[in-house]
Amino acid sequence: MLRIENLCKSFGGVVATSDVSIHFPTGSLSAVIGPNGAGKTTFFNLISGALPPDSGKILLDGENIVGLSGNAIVQKGIGRAFQVAKLFKSLTVEESLRGALLSPLGKSAQMTGRFPLPQTRDRAYEVMDQLGLTPKAHVVSGNLSHGDQKLLDMALALVLKPKVLLLDEPVAGMGPEEREQMIETVHALWKKGGLTVVLIEHDMDIVFRISQNIHVLSYGKLLAEGNAEQIRNNPAVIEAYLGTPREVHHA
Ligand SMILES: Nc1ncnc2c1ncn2[C@@H]1O[C@H](COP(=O)(O)OP(=O)(O)O)[C@@H](O)[C@H]1O
Ligand SMILES: [Mg+2]
Repeated sequence: MLRIENLCKSFGGVVATSDVSIHFPTGSLSAVIGPNGAGKTTFFNLISGALPPDSGKILLDGENIVGLSGNAIVQKGIGRAFQVAKLFKSLTVEESLRGALLSPLGKSAQMTGRFPLPQTRDRAYEVMDQLGLTPKAHVVSGNLSHGDQKLLDMALALVLKPKVLLLDEPVAGMGPEEREQMIETVHALWKKGGLTVVLIEHDMDIVFRISQNIHVLSYGKLLAEGNAEQIRNNPAVIEAYLGTPREVHHA
């Protein structure tokens, strides 16, 4: 279970996260939504340890993980896919996944040498099979389509068997067909059970379709939370979406 308590983060005068408390139950699929600049990516940066919060707690199964390194947080079981995929562009899909399996063990040297340990192969193929990436195993990541790059980014998080998977706009920049496939993939992954999924997504239709719980951020504050029905009819949410979006400067 992931429980966020009174989380705060400012950048100079910009309050990106303002006293946010959210509970993500184990095995749930939740969405974090909100206009551009609402603080969604910052929220993930805080949870994954990419940025330190100013104050507040991030409790993973009761343990406060604030202050741990990004790597330690990965090892605790929080995996993350990025708004803009972060890949080892010169490595193939298989090499990337095997490298990711080794890097938390401090064996990244073997990855750059392209001689990953044999036992990483099975896990890499398990995840590629799950995500439909097996036919691309030997494709160099930089040559993958945009959609497959997003899939690989997710695979890199999944390969380490996280308890919690944070997905930052998994369908961003995709065409309609790729989008559908990605949503299916995420939904199927979650339905297998056990994994807590938190999804940042712009497209309200997608969010309403697959999320159990929806949390709405606006100007860094938690504006509303509830199921699709409750969020769809919430006047404050409607106003936040119809209002002028805050200017975005993605970090
Ligand atoms: N590393 C950073 N340094 C300075 N300002 C940042 C940084 N990251 C985010 N911000 C600011 O925080 C606010 C929220 O940004 P972000 O979390 O990326 O929003 P969202 O993902 O909802 O679009 C924005 O005003 C953004 O410019
Ligand atoms: Mg963002």
